[in-house]
Amino acid sequence: MNEHRTEHRKIEQNYPRRQTVTLAGAASTAAMLATMLLIGCTPLPPSKPASEFTPQEARGAAVFQSHCARCHYPTTTHGLHGPGLQALTKVKAMPSGAPPTDARITQTILYGHGMMQPVAVSDSELNDLLAYLHTL
Ligand code: HEC
Repeated sequence: MNEHRTEHRKIEQNYPRRQTVTLAGAASTAAMLATMLLIGCTPLPPSKPASEFTPQEARGAAVFQSHCARCHYPTTTHGLHGPGLQALTKVKAMPSGAPPTDARITQTILYGHGMMQPVAVSDSELNDLLAYLHTL
């Protein structure tokens, strides 16, 4: 457990700091995502593009926007108020060291975790949100 935590911190420190990258015509979402990958997320598996979302994943993205986005970035591991959630379900451990299973994530959302307060979502919102989190 402790080893996991230390390892995770080391990985975070190894991500290069945000830089301003000027790309001609970088306004497109695709270019922005590519830039973010180049900046710091290269070792992580890629997120599913929003254009390929199932209806459930799209609903989950909306739940994320209204309930989670003010504290978590979905497309990077850089922290906002809480840790960035890119590749959340694809890595071995969440920042706490716990495995990123649906059960643990559900527990985090409904009951809070450490500095994170519980977030009130309905069962269907929760299911949609979990589907979306798997795309990150
Ligand atoms: C008001 C800010 C805030 C909101 C809103 C919020 N979180 Fe968090 N979240 C945090 C903070 C802060 C942490 C770090 C908690 C800690 O380790 O003490 C965290 C941690 C987490 C973790 C990592 C848990 C772990 O075991 O390492 C996950 C996953 C997570 N949040 C998911 C979500 C999801 C999904 C939502 C939306 C339903 C959400 N959060 C809404 C602040 C927030």
